[in-house]
Parts: sequence; structure tokens; C-alpha cells
Amino acid sequence: MERGNVPRIVEKKREKLVFAVLLGENGAWGNHNRDSIKVKEMNDVAKKKGRLDLVNMKKNGEQMTWVTAYDFPMASFAEAAGMDMILVGDSLGMITLGYQGTIPVTMEDCISHCKAVRRGAPNTFVMGDMPFGSYQVSDADAVANAVRFLKEADMDAIKLEGGVRVKSRIRAIADAGILVCGHIGLTPQSSGPLGGFKAQGLDTESARYVIEDALAVEESGAFALLVEAVPPELTQFLAKKLTIPVYSIGAGGPCDGQLLICGDMIGMFQAFTPKFVKVYANVAEIITNAFKEYVDDVHTGKFPGDEHCYHVRKGMEEEYAAMLKEYE
Ligand code: KIV
Repeated sequence: MERGNVPRIVEKKREKLVFAVLLGENGAWGNHNRDSIKVKEMNDVAKKKGRLDLVNMKKNGEQMTWVTAYDFPMASFAEAAGMDMILVGDSLGMITLGYQGTIPVTMEDCISHCKAVRRGAPNTFVMGDMPFGSYQVSDADAVANAVRFLKEADMDAIKLEGGVRVKSRIRAIADAGILVCGHIGLTPQSSGPLGGFKAQGLDTESARYVIEDALAVEESGAFALLVEAVPPELTQFLAKKLTIPVYSIGAGGPCDGQLLICGDMIGMFQAFTPKFVKVYANVAEIITNAFKEYVDDVHTGKFPGDEHCYHVRKGMEEEYAAMLKEYE
């Protein structure tokens, strides 16, 4: 939907942004934001991208930009910045929930965070990440959990980890009419069997596994593939070989787009920073310094100042003071 083609009711209540009506005539936008507070500059953001836009971007050699987000503010910042896509990764386990890894993350965690992200980024293609345990047991389980991402959290697509070993899962979810993104190379949910958070495909034997996984993901009906922590030579080969878009996280530049984890790239996640991350800001330092200044201000009486206070109605000051005296 272009600007100027906004449903009439939205025009009328623009200041309130009653998102429920964004369903419009063609039902394309959904009514996911009826609970949402106003998203800044809502009317000026670009049209939400869909699968075909992503395919065209690949054809035209246009790089897709992608970041993770787990909550309302981060999602709204990503949308305001013009990000093409948002992943609500199960990395939320580490970045937001403080777990050591992704394994404890539940479907309930994911759905709740996906909903918050959707409220913050109503016009961005958002993908939910299937947590460990949500697709390992059976195809039927995988489909049921994938459906939850769409029905309960209004996601545009889901992502799951693995290639050859999850072929039937990808096929089953795709056959249910859900966009599936594969994720191969370093797959954090199986970092145990992989021997830790280690780059993959560094030698020919390991690279063959990555290639077989990539082929399996495409054959099974995935609409896109994310490749993590493999050499750029391999990523470039896969981006040329596959017809679906191939995106990189820590897998070099020559492909169809890039993903970074928000907590890493803005310096919010303190435990470690992978080699492949470019750090664009030091938010942890900014926030800690702000908190320290606040503590100091409270201790020294600089906060709150008169400008932060509500004042007794003008002309009522004396009466007010007398009333308080009554209670002394
Ligand atoms: O959960 C996540 O953020 C991910 C990335 C590591 C790709 O899956």
C-alpha cells in the first residue's frame, strides 16, 4: 500500500493510528496492531516487503538488510531505519533473557517476543525463529508450531536450523503454505554436536556438508536460506547456485543480504562479540553512564528539579498549604 492510498478511516483518525483498520480491502496488512501504541512516523515508512520483492532484489543484485529484534522499541528503531527484514531470533535467550544459550527458549517466549516486535514494526517483513524442541519431534509438531507463529504473532515467515536432517520438516511447513527460511553452517541450537560455536565449511569435507544442506533446503521448498559462519567463497558459490535468496550472518559479503544480531552490533550484549560483528554503537556504555548519572543526581539532590514536578494549581497555593497543615 503506497502513501496516499491509506484506508479512509485511517486518514480520518490519523492521529490515533487505529491499526485495526489497516486490514484494508485486500486484507494484506492484517490487524495485528490493534493493541499497539502509536509507532513513530508510521505513515512515512516504506511498503512492507514480501517474498517476491526479496526474489527481485536477488535478481537485481540488491542487498537485503536484516537485523534481529526482540521487543517493541528495537523493532520500531529497525523499521524507522528502513531495515528490509527483522528476525525474532531464539538468540533472545542470550541477548534478552540472560540464558547461556538458545536451548531453554520456549515457544511461549518466542510468541510473546514476536508479538511485541510486530507491534513495533507493522510494516516490516518479520520472521519468527523456531526454538529448540518446537520442530525436532515430528513433522506434525513442526507444522503446528509454525502455524502458531503466523496465527498468534502475525509473523510473515519462520526459520529453522538444519539442512538434510530437517528436509521433511521444511517440506511439511512449506506445504502448509508457510514461508520457511533454512539456516545452515554454524547452527547454534546444535552447537553441542558441532563441537561449540565454530565456523563451518573451512575444509573441503566440511564444505561438502554445507553444500548438501543448502541443496536440501532449496529442494524442500524453503523460500530463503541463511548461512552462518562459513567462508565467503562458499557463501558466494551458494548464492550463485541456488535460485532462492542466500543471506549471510558471519559468512561474508558476496551473497544476497546480511543479518546481524542487534545486541552485538549496538554493543548491548556484553558476554562476547563474535569476530564477524561490526559494532556500530556502544549502547551498554551509554545506558550505564546514564544510570550512574541518575544515581549521582538523586544522591546529591540534583534530581528531581523543579521542572520535573507538577505544581499546585495557580492561585490555590495558600489554601493548599493550609489544607496540609490540617493534617500535621
Ligand atoms: O537466533 C538468532 O538470532 C539466529 C541467528 C544466529 C542467525 O538464529
